[in-house]
Amino acid sequence: MSRVIAITGASAGIGRATALRLARDGAALVICARRADRLDAVAAEITAAGGQALPIIADVTRAEDMNTLVARSVERFGRLDVMMCNAGFGIAGAIDDIAPDQMQKLMDINYTGTYHAARAALPLFRRQGSGHVIIVSSIVGKRGVPFMGAYSATKFAQVGLAECLRSELVGSNIHVSIVFPVSTDTEFFEVMLRETGTPITRAIGPLQSVTTVATAIARAIERPVPEIFPHARSRALVILNALAPGVCDRVVKRFGRKPVRR
Ligand SMILES: NC(=O)c1ccc[n+]([C@@H]2O[C@H](COP(=O)([O-])OP(=O)(O)OC[C@H]3O[C@@H](n4cnc5c(N)ncnc54)[C@H](OP(=O)(O)O)[C@@H]3O)[C@@H](O)[C@H]2O)c1
Repeated sequence: MSRVIAITGASAGIGRATALRLARDGAALVICARRADRLDAVAAEITAAGGQALPIIADVTRAEDMNTLVARSVERFGRLDVMMCNAGFGIAGAIDDIAPDQMQKLMDINYTGTYHAARAALPLFRRQGSGHVIIVSSIVGKRGVPFMGAYSATKFAQVGLAECLRSELVGSNIHVSIVFPVSTDTEFFEVMLRETGTPITRAIGPLQSVTTVATAIARAIERPVPEIFPHARSRALVILNALAPGVCDRVVKRFGRKPVRR
């Protein structure tokens, strides 16, 4: 039987690319986002290619929306095998340039949205005796970089949740994987520019395609692993940070974003 996979934030970017890729692999997709037109377009692309898609307009900051996502998946497909917590966005700036309401919005979508989606799926996974929670964090959820403190904190928070959950579930047939993409070619940077409200420079570093990230996630669904680094060499940053955090500070300062002026 084909897998049933829910993806939050599937109207664009990594979520959309992963949905299309997994549909090609034969999975049934339950996709959610806030923009109906964009989500319907992704669903139409999947069905036009012979796949199955159930689009659900939902906001990850609303617990009831995530419960509905899981309930509708069971209603339509009889089960849910994977919950991919992907919806998210960024705001750049020094911590004292980030307003409290911006920080709250980042936490609400990136962290609390992940919590709501995982929490909605877990009781079903326990009843089924199987399931897979995939959490899309970021390389800045492993190592902070200049002027991304507010965003980075939400990405570290996802990792804390995932690591605790993963250790609770050791020995069960429920898997938890965390994805650590580097800069990926999506609408993320346009949204960040809009939400930041002031010009920001791009970091100097590798820019990967959504296909690279989607392929790495598809592989991990076949063979669950705790951590997914779609850009394999980015693990070096994590190792450098563990061995020599002060040196790592200088490296990320050199290659990171430049100051955002008030
Ligand atoms: N691009 C990168 O460089 C990069 C690097 C590392 C990690 N990531 C992470 O990858 C994930 C996906 O980002 P992306 O690059 O694909 O960005 P994107 O192209 O801007 O896509 C973001 C997706 O999240 C959805 N979304 C945002 N807020 C939502 C909410 N409250 N409820 C439901 N859906 C919501 C958006 O849909 P609607 O607007 O239609 O709701 C959209 O489908 C994020 O968690 C991001 O932090 C991205």
